[in-house]
Amino acid sequence: MKIGVDYYPEQWDKSLWEKDADLMSKTGVKVVRLAEFAWSRLEPREGEFDFAWLDEVMRIFARYRIDVVMSIPTNCPPLWLYRKHPEIIQKGPDGSPIQTGIRGHRCINSEVFMSYARRITERMVRHYSSSAQVIAWQIDNELEAYQCTCDTCRKKFRDWLIDKHDSIANINAAFGNSVWSLEYSDISEVEPPTAYPKAWQNPALCLEFQRFSSECTAKYVKELAMIIKREIPKANLTTNTWFCENTPDFYELFDQVDFVSYDNYPPVMLPADPDEFYSHAFHLDLMRGIKGKKFWVMEQLSGPTGSWAPMTQTPRPGQIMGYSLQAIAHGADTVVHFRWRTAVSGAEMHWHGLIDHSNVPGRRFNEFAELCNTVGKLGLIESTEIVSDIAIIYCPENDWAFKIQPQTEGFYYLEQLKYFHSAFSRYGANIDIVPADADLSHYKVVVAPTMYVYDRKSAENIYRYAINGGTLILTNRSGVKDSNNNCIMQPLPTVYKELVGAEVTEYDPIGNNNQTIVDFAGNRFSCSQWCDILTLTTAKAYAEYDDGFYRCCPAVTMNRYCNGVVYYVGTICEMDFYESFAGNVMRQTGIPRLKGLPAGVEVTTRTNGIDEFICFFNNSEENAEISLPKAMFSILTGVGKDKVTLKPFGFDIVRK
Ligand code: GAL
Repeated sequence: MKIGVDYYPEQWDKSLWEKDADLMSKTGVKVVRLAEFAWSRLEPREGEFDFAWLDEVMRIFARYRIDVVMSIPTNCPPLWLYRKHPEIIQKGPDGSPIQTGIRGHRCINSEVFMSYARRITERMVRHYSSSAQVIAWQIDNELEAYQCTCDTCRKKFRDWLIDKHDSIANINAAFGNSVWSLEYSDISEVEPPTAYPKAWQNPALCLEFQRFSSECTAKYVKELAMIIKREIPKANLTTNTWFCENTPDFYELFDQVDFVSYDNYPPVMLPADPDEFYSHAFHLDLMRGIKGKKFWVMEQLSGPTGSWAPMTQTPRPGQIMGYSLQAIAHGADTVVHFRWRTAVSGAEMHWHGLIDHSNVPGRRFNEFAELCNTVGKLGLIESTEIVSDIAIIYCPENDWAFKIQPQTEGFYYLEQLKYFHSAFSRYGANIDIVPADADLSHYKVVVAPTMYVYDRKSAENIYRYAINGGTLILTNRSGVKDSNNNCIMQPLPTVYKELVGAEVTEYDPIGNNNQTIVDFAGNRFSCSQWCDILTLTTAKAYAEYDDGFYRCCPAVTMNRYCNGVVYYVGTICEMDFYESFAGNVMRQTGIPRLKGLPAGVEVTTRTNGIDEFICFFNNSEENAEISLPKAMFSILTGVGKDKVTLKPFGFDIVRK
């Protein structure tokens, strides 16, 4: 396990390079990420390449035994390239070119751009192909499913549609274009979604464009990945990602590379609502689940953030260390901090690094040094894995379709997943977030929230899991759309009806109003956003509505299906419901529960098949104390104890 930093030598006077490397080495930094935005330094004029400065930086780091993540700098083409070929600039949804002067302006579908991108990639890779110091390659930066509407993208989108649907008639049928006279008579009439709110546009068209854009991004990564692998077959490849408005399909994106890396900026200000404490752990579990293996953090919170938004408060004592260790506990094996020193020029100068503008290492830096030291003690858990009894299914298409057509105010796809993640986290359970086509057979519980857009393989996988004896949890807004993002003309939850053993006879999209449900044991919980009014076929009611015109109608059900058990949660509840529900499901399925964990304390258990190590992270501003069932040794302090005491953002690992 390693700690690293993002370093931009091109932004500093040469005289600082050696001093920085020296301090990094003394602090315990093992890896630096370089060159991510340095295209204009590497190819200052068309076809003129200059690697001398980067070679010098590499030599300095080599002397200090610091490894390198080399980045392909294609996110920021130099201005001479935009000037010569303005056609490579992305066009926005209104058809006009986006303004240059920021970053990421290039259209990744442009053949002209690609010819330059291939060339800089080849040059860099050839130049560093024999360097053992380069332990990984990063392709581009924070790629999105760009919604570019330039001529090339329009043409490619049309070709893609014809390829997929075969004919204009089929496209019209798939898009349901008889509505509002939207029928195409020729493929040239197909246009990407415009700048109008998506909710006004054809949802089928919008989803296809999103799929197309996501596929283009994955193809782009594949093409650059192949160039690198051709030169260096053993190259360790990644691209760094985050949760942006236009997230690509993470599963497809990372299929093209060797490992996932995530840009991890947990909130400096804790959410006012303690129900959201576990959101961040959710993102980390999702990253681990993309490839079902360890991932890297390629950018980690290091100071107050800001620049495009007003600055946040500075990380509280414990956060620099705690959030990195939290990432490690959830499966990161290298955490690279963004950034070594805060930029003194450029738009990003208020997004702080470990060292402030003053260049005087301060409190945050000292905590970072302590982190490097602590990570040095984690050798024992290096080869351990997180084995989970519980999985939550994440489907990019459901996320996209929800963004295209918001259902009710405050009803978000990802939030549905987080409620369950948070509920199971409160009992200290390990949780995997997995794709819908994952092998589910080894999970005791699978939660498939809001399976909104139908996909045959996913539905079959979910059925198979229940048939073979799994415990499945489905929720409202499942089986709503066919794969074209049109509504399925059957009683909800349509394709999942058999599993659920109940039908939605009506629904009430109540938004921010409240209703009450009462469960089989008489516990009452408030619910909002959405109420499915259910009629039972083979299922039994787990909870019923307690007010309004559907009082006494089932809201949550339980059904036995073949060898499995299927729960259906037809509404969206306050957290207490999910906690009580998760507790009951864990008891029914024999998953051990840690009871009475203080709010915000996260527990992940890692195993090497023989030993188990329990990681505790206190993601709260209160001191926390957790009693252990017996005395256990902390691998951080070497002290045996029967309780773990943690300061705010404190972390400990005990051997079970
Ligand atoms: C990330 C990006 C970095 C830097 C950072 C902080 O999204 O990859 O290059 O901009 O945010 O602003």
